[in-house]
Amino acid sequence: MIDVIPGPDGRPRVWLVAPPGGGAYVVALFRGKYLAHYHWGGFFEPSPGALDALEAPPQGFGAAEDAADKSYSLQRLPQEYPWGRGGDFRSPAFAADVPPRGTGGPGRPVLDLVYRAYRVHPGFPDLGGLPLPAGGPEELGREGVETLELELEDPVTGLAVFLCYSTLPSAGAILRATRFLNRGAAPVALRRAFSFSLDLPPRETPLELLATDGGWARERSLERRPLGCGRIELGSRRGVSGHASSPALILAEPGADEEGGRAWGFALLYSGDWSLGVERSDEGGYRVQGGLHPELFSWTLDPGASFATPAALLCRSDEGLGVLSARFHAAARRLMPAAWRRRERPVLLNSWEAAYFDYDESRLLEIARGAAGLGAELFVLDDGWFGKRDDDRSSLGDWEPNPAKLPGGLAGLAEKVRALGLGFGLWLEPEALSPDSGLYRAHPDWALALEDRPPAEGRNQLVLDLSRPEVAAAVESRVRAVLASCRPDYVKWDMNRPFSRAGSASGRPDGELRHRWLLALYGILGRITSDFPDVLFEGCAGGGGRADFGMLPFFPQFWASDNTDPCWRLGIQRATSLFLPPLAFGAHVSASPNHQTGRTTGLRARCLVAMGGVFGLELDPAALSAAERDEVSDSIAWYKRRKELLQLGELVRLDASAGGGDAAWAMVAPGGGRAAVFWARSVNRPNAGPVRLRLRGLDPRRDYLASSREIAAFAGRRYSGCELMERGIEFQPPALGDPIVVSFDVAPAGADAPGAPGSARAGGDARGNRR
Ligand code: DGJ
Repeated sequence: MIDVIPGPDGRPRVWLVAPPGGGAYVVALFRGKYLAHYHWGGFFEPSPGALDALEAPPQGFGAAEDAADKSYSLQRLPQEYPWGRGGDFRSPAFAADVPPRGTGGPGRPVLDLVYRAYRVHPGFPDLGGLPLPAGGPEELGREGVETLELELEDPVTGLAVFLCYSTLPSAGAILRATRFLNRGAAPVALRRAFSFSLDLPPRETPLELLATDGGWARERSLERRPLGCGRIELGSRRGVSGHASSPALILAEPGADEEGGRAWGFALLYSGDWSLGVERSDEGGYRVQGGLHPELFSWTLDPGASFATPAALLCRSDEGLGVLSARFHAAARRLMPAAWRRRERPVLLNSWEAAYFDYDESRLLEIARGAAGLGAELFVLDDGWFGKRDDDRSSLGDWEPNPAKLPGGLAGLAEKVRALGLGFGLWLEPEALSPDSGLYRAHPDWALALEDRPPAEGRNQLVLDLSRPEVAAAVESRVRAVLASCRPDYVKWDMNRPFSRAGSASGRPDGELRHRWLLALYGILGRITSDFPDVLFEGCAGGGGRADFGMLPFFPQFWASDNTDPCWRLGIQRATSLFLPPLAFGAHVSASPNHQTGRTTGLRARCLVAMGGVFGLELDPAALSAAERDEVSDSIAWYKRRKELLQLGELVRLDASAGGGDAAWAMVAPGGGRAAVFWARSVNRPNAGPVRLRLRGLDPRRDYLASSREIAAFAGRRYSGCELMERGIEFQPPALGDPIVVSFDVAPAGADAPGAPGSARAGGDARGNRR
């Protein structure tokens, strides 16, 4: 719902953006010209009079914007889209100027954005091809998506700024974005153009920042710290969103945990250079803002031209991080291509760690046969099938199958794989090229490089200059040709190289290049994924280097990390799950010792931890002993029987209170009819005591039957949903700290249901509360 409340003069005074279940975001007009942030929290409809509570008294050693009215200070006004170089000394949301003509005179800054008008319209704003949840006007109308656009303008330069707030009802979330239109007579140079900015009120105890950090093979490790003075900036200058973050961050009240406390989350629908910042003001308030990384961005808007920022997803919760994540997960599912939002994913085996580059067709088929024997459903041919690529030093760009490895080409291999009863999947890295490739020899200027300087290499490769239409068209047509040649069921779309020394032979201004490059990539991905809607595209960038909300409309699944060591994966998956549901990231069982960490781990641990995402295999089945083969096929069979629950259910992170690297989570079917509870310990604790796990999301009025392979005592035990959520389960972990899984299925209704709340014996009310 979007509502407009008039002031006493009958003119719009307050705007209310309230997605169902997501509370209210309230913007108010201050002094008839400035857009102030009034509230983002639980729902209420402000009365016009209440808005007089919005104060911004003048500040000592401050500045009054308007010499004729010194009764307020912008430094003290909570704002929606602050500009710089005025009397608000905090970080601005944007910076722009009209550059000097010829050589003389200073440029004129854009400032004094004043409110002009508003408009409410159905659907999302036009962001010029940037990612948004898909859907035609009818679908978005049915869903109740609507947008408020608040128009501001600098009276001197004529730059108009439209602040866009869209409701995302399926997630109880808000999408913010900003559009610019140059209504002036001179070009305007945008130097900073954030998607959103908002000022949260001062608090006695500082808010805490939850952010993730990491690198290749150690993606997303969660850090939580109180916000002190100054500004904290997260971001990427790599051309891809990076291994550290989604890009996203959370602010939480101290003490907010999975079940309680207030938390606010922000994620960008963007996959390139980004920035998210939090700044504590000198009076204790918090300014959160983010969007395109300002250092690597500039954009010239000629008179009449417009520009749109990427969208930012804003979610909040009064009930802790669990509800906050559920909102992000709902938004993530909504962003996926329609065909994949609620579609089960196959159990796949990927050839990478089984064979790396060292294979021919018969070796691949041996691996595929092994995969089929274990119960896998799809075989993925990873890197090395094209050109003369026997290592990572050549052939990217030459997307012709190597006849020495694949005499029947991709089609021949795909047919033989399908004859084994498996789907066929393929690895591609379309955005890159090797200096040692036919493509580079034919078109050396197609690589991103700085004029008159040798290009930098990363993993012996370069990045194709997609900002040039002819290069983008060539990439798209090569990908289409490969897909048409073998009709894969799955594609792993990889990208293994950050941008460095990036420039374009087109002479395009440096500040525009990276954003134009990404717009072109989004265009390619949009066309290809909608023309091949039944292909499951998994996004990869050297593992989880581009697992962001901007890629979800094309890639409903990401490869979370090349690190498949279960001890590491517990942390990576837990932090990833703050924003993405398990349906959105692949998790594979690999060999032990692990290829990235060298650690030896038990097979059962590897299997159960891989069930925390979309389960798959990354090993050579022939290297397994008979007992290990049994273990893997049992695990796959168990997982396949519960795929709907484990992939499409709701993730509930549990408090594994023993600490020391324990992790626990549950997958719960919508409505609470079924659940699977996982517990794992990454650091063994000799002489450890029992573990207690309290569940959430079950139906308190029903009984559940437990079962577990690891803990015999659970076999056939009957619990009320109420007991599971109030007291929880208790068990003594296996001696060496091996992980466990306990299944809960709703018990058939029976007179002997022990203590079923709501029954006469239990003496409970309908919500499961004891009287
Ligand atoms: C990086 C990916 O993360 C790996 O899984 C694998 O596909 C390699 N690239 C192949 O070069």
